[in-house]
Amino acid sequence: EDWDLELDTTTQDGKDLQLAASNLKYSDVPVAFPTETVYGLGADATRSAAVKGIYQAKQRPSDNPLIVHIASLKQLRKLLSTSNSPPEVDPIPQIYHPLIKRFWPGPITIILPVPEDSKLAPEVTAGLHTFGARMPRNLLALALIKTADVPVAAPSANASTKPSPTAAEHVRYDLDGRIELIVDGGPCDVGVESTVVDGLSSPPAVLRPGGIGIDLIKTVPGWENTIVGYHDVSLKGDAAPRAPGMKYRHYSPKAPVMLVEATGGKQPHISDLSRQLGTNGSLGLVRTRTWTSMLEDEVAGSAKEKGSVPLESGPKCADIPASPLEAMLRESAYQQKQLHAQEVVLQHDNKRFTVWDMCIGPDTANVARGLFSALRELDRKDVDAIIVEGIDDDEGDIAAAVMNRLRKAAEIKLEQL
Ligand code: TXA
Ligand code: MG
Repeated sequence: EDWDLELDTTTQDGKDLQLAASNLKYSDVPVAFPTETVYGLGADATRSAAVKGIYQAKQRPSDNPLIVHIASLKQLRKLLSTSNSPPEVDPIPQIYHPLIKRFWPGPITIILPVPEDSKLAPEVTAGLHTFGARMPRNLLALALIKTADVPVAAPSANASTKPSPTAAEHVRYDLDGRIELIVDGGPCDVGVESTVVDGLSSPPAVLRPGGIGIDLIKTVPGWENTIVGYHDVSLKGDAAPRAPGMKYRHYSPKAPVMLVEATGGKQPHISDLSRQLGTNGSLGLVRTRTWTSMLEDEVAGSAKEKGSVPLESGPKCADIPASPLEAMLRESAYQQKQLHAQEVVLQHDNKRFTVWDMCIGPDTANVARGLFSALRELDRKDVDAIIVEGIDDDEGDIAAAVMNRLRKAAEIKLEQL
């Protein structure tokens, strides 16, 4: 039931991967590598010193449990069995068997019991009696883990509080000088982290929405009654908008993020944008499904009515292609596919200001793939604020993960623009 993968060590790529694997196995400096969700910052999950290296590089307090990445079920079973477990019993709990069959390798993390004489470093489980495990489907990740022949603990490879990295460039930007090696696999296919599920409790629960939607999980035998076990911070009915400077920032670019929920929100008018800024400054605009480019409709109309003059046009909505396997293995893949914000200079109320306009939709998969990248791109433009068009998350698919991340990133929620 496990598959096999052989590394060709006569090629430069093969040699590079071998070096990364040997760093994973022997060094205490973590290695960044691509997965189909986001880039991970990996360390041998059985060595405390190596796992501590992750927290050091990320500059994050070590109070969060880490996901353990494995390349085969055999590797997972080895982690789960104890010296006195009967060999005829599968140490992977039954409930997970159909889920694994359906989704692994892939973007879903399962919660498992930590065995008594566990080989996992205590820093991985953060004192819990359970741990998360997943088999990524990115071939470079699988090859790396298999070659290193160690279970790999890995959080996302961003600096603490920043948006998760979905390209090697993002990792380099955040962690340059703190790590020695990034395996560059081009842009990530999924773009948001794995779904974390707990099948040890009854009914099973989704602890974090991610790459596999709850509707799909519910089609798996034994998982029909899966419940949502997480809570979105700023869903409607919640407390007031979160104030800037709160203790735990997540997925956040430098500029404050203002999220317009899909339900009830509408595209900001040029006057709304103008109001967000002083006499000068710049805004980032992330459009997903329905908002139109700054030059179309709304602004064009208001320009006529109120004498506002858009000086340059914005981009049209375009699909962001998934990275094909070939591109995944090419170093410069991301450069070719990078999302670019387009500069639109606007004039309103005697103010002249810049909008960096991006469209990452309209498909949910594209929004997920482009989301973190868009926030980072706008950060590089040094915008004063970022306004994001939310998407409808009723669907029980990956949209739930997108909105979960956006609500965490948003310090200001704009329902009535
Ligand atoms: O897609 C992903 O999952 C990425 C890539 C690199 O694989 N990794 C990732 O790791 O997102 P990290 O550390 O950023 O997130 C780990 C998540 C957290 O939400 C954590 O609370 C949860 O997994 N988690 C880990 N162990 C857990 C446990 N024993 N019980 C409950 N939740 C756990
Ligand atoms: Mg993370």
